[in-house]
Amino acid sequence: MKYTKDDLNFLKARRAEQHVSTVSMQGKTCVISGATSGVGLEASKRLAKGGAELILVCRDAKKADNAASLLRNDHGAKVHVVTADFSCLDDVRRAAGQIREMTDSLDVLINSAGLHCTRRHLTRDGNELVFQVNHVAPFLMTMLLLDLLIKSPQGRIIQVNSEGHRFGGLNLNDLDWTKRPYMGLRAYGSSKTAQIMTVMVLSERLKGTGVTINAMHPGGVRTNIGNNNGILYRAWLRGIVWHFLKDAAISGEALYYLSNAEELAQTSGRYFFLTQDIKPMAHAMDEQVRAAIWEKTLSLTGLPFEFLNGAIGGQFSGQNGYRKT
Ligand SMILES: NC(=O)c1ccc[n+]([C@@H]2O[C@H](COP(=O)([O-])OP(=O)(O)OC[C@H]3O[C@@H](n4cnc5c(N)ncnc54)[C@H](OP(=O)(O)O)[C@@H]3O)[C@@H](O)[C@H]2O)c1
Repeated sequence: MKYTKDDLNFLKARRAEQHVSTVSMQGKTCVISGATSGVGLEASKRLAKGGAELILVCRDAKKADNAASLLRNDHGAKVHVVTADFSCLDDVRRAAGQIREMTDSLDVLINSAGLHCTRRHLTRDGNELVFQVNHVAPFLMTMLLLDLLIKSPQGRIIQVNSEGHRFGGLNLNDLDWTKRPYMGLRAYGSSKTAQIMTVMVLSERLKGTGVTINAMHPGGVRTNIGNNNGILYRAWLRGIVWHFLKDAAISGEALYYLSNAEELAQTSGRYFFLTQDIKPMAHAMDEQVRAAIWEKTLSLTGLPFEFLNGAIGGQFSGQNGYRKT
């Protein structure tokens, strides 16, 4: 991997004073995945406080109901819950269908559901678990809700990404780690690199629609990420790593800013460290790999290649991504 001077920009971004927004979200509808915990929950709290109506996409119905009650009690927010396990793409399709029945337009989509695994697992769709949950499933959710975002005066999509994209690991010939020994951090890096790349491609394709899409690193914050791993990993995380992490409220505040700041109305295809617009690592900017991962991700989701033209041309059915022609 080659390093450039820009690759250290994250150090400056971490120390920088973060932007905040006081814009009201009254009358806005936001979908947030991974809203039961950590970054997604903090973003939901901040958006609820700002007056937004929320649709929480969560895999665990009980946890989702607890989060919804908290948001209703603390902020008087209007909150709906949709369940979907991102390790199952049919769940994502069904959840997108339910959201489409709830509303005709969407103002903000935040995909925060994600995980890090120290061991390789395959989903029933046949993908490596981290790659599917962190990249393929949020991509599919985004595509299936695209026309609702286009109907908003200024739809915004934010993919919660990570500085972990710097670990690299994306290999187009081995997305599922069958040919290499599995390395958790590199698999995580692969999923986040793929996501940054598709954010960039989609932002190009969305030009002229008014919809923006950006990736963001939510800061190094204390959440439940990694809790699915073994006892030694968890002990290291809680005993050592947590001392260097911040309260996840900063992630919620940054996502609020990215959701509504007027100065970002035209900003798309960017990577933010919290609220700081920085360059991702050089390997995430490779145009050939970017085009290939876009097509590969479309094929993993079963979406046809002409999908986006259909969405923008208004011929999009949304349920399965095929044109209505
Ligand atoms: N924490 C950090 O410092 C940090 C740094 C960089 C990037 N991030 C990113 O931030 C995002 C949120 O992570 P977090 O730190 O807030 O971790 P977290 O507290 O563990 O939250 C993760 C959320 O994702 C959900 N989730 C996990 N697997 C899922 C699946 N198969 N289907 C649907 N939902 C699933 C979890 O649901 P359950 O509650 O049911 O488990 C939870 O709501 C991730 O994309 C992560 O990569 C975090």
